[in-house]
Amino acid sequence: MKELFISFEGIEGSGKSTQAERLYKWLKSKGYDCVFTKEPGGTPVSEKIRNILLDTKNDKLSELAELFLYLADRAQHIKEVIEPALSNGKIVITDRFSDSTLAYQGKGRRIKEEQVKPMNEIATDGIVPDLTILIDILPVEGLKRIKRKDRIELESEDFYQRIRQEYLKIAKENPDRVKVFDGTLPPEKIEKNIREVINPLLKEIN
Ligand code: TMP
Repeated sequence: MKELFISFEGIEGSGKSTQAERLYKWLKSKGYDCVFTKEPGGTPVSEKIRNILLDTKNDKLSELAELFLYLADRAQHIKEVIEPALSNGKIVITDRFSDSTLAYQGKGRRIKEEQVKPMNEIATDGIVPDLTILIDILPVEGLKRIKRKDRIELESEDFYQRIRQEYLKIAKENPDRVKVFDGTLPPEKIEKNIREVINPLLKEIN
C-alpha cells in the first residue's frame, strides 16, 4: 500500500471535524491502515501549544507569536505523527493543516503571504496533502453552530469572511489538490460526496 495524506479545512461550524472523523471510521471499517489526527494538537507537546492558542485568557498574544505557535505545533506534529505514518504507507487524515495558517494568520490576521508561506514550508518539511477537503459555509451560518467560543472564535464575522475568501482562493489555485464541498448540505450527503472523491484515490494506492 502507498501512503495517502488527506487534510480537512474550513471555518468554524463548517462540519469538517465531523466529516474527517466519519471518513476515518469508514476507511478503518474497510480495513485501511489509517491515522486520524488534528491541528493544533495531535501530539502531547502540541496539545500544550493548543491550550495556549485557544485559551481566552491569552488576549495579549501577538499576531506573530500566534503564527509561530501554530508553526511550532505543526513542526512537532509532522515529526512525531505525520512523517512516520506516511513513511509506513499509512493513510493520514488531519483535521486542519497548512492552509489553515494561510487563511487564519495570513488573511485573518493580515500577516503577509510572503512571510507566512516560506515559514509554513519549513514547518511542514515540504509535505503537502494529496487531497484537501474544504467544507465551505458562510461565516454567519457556521458561527451560529458554535456554542462555547475559544480565543479565535471570539473574532468578528468579517475576520471569518476573509478566511473563507482565502480558502476559496487556495481551492481555485490548486484545483487538483483542493475539493470544495457545500457545508449546508445534510452531513450524510456531504459524506457521500466525499467518498466519491476518495474512491479513485483508494484504487491508486492499492
Ligand atoms: P479547531 O476549532 O478546528 O480545533 O481549530 C482551532 C482553531 O485554530 C480554529 O479557530 C482555527 C485556528 N487555527 C489557526 O488559526 N491557524 C492554524 O494554522 C490552525 C491549524 C488552526
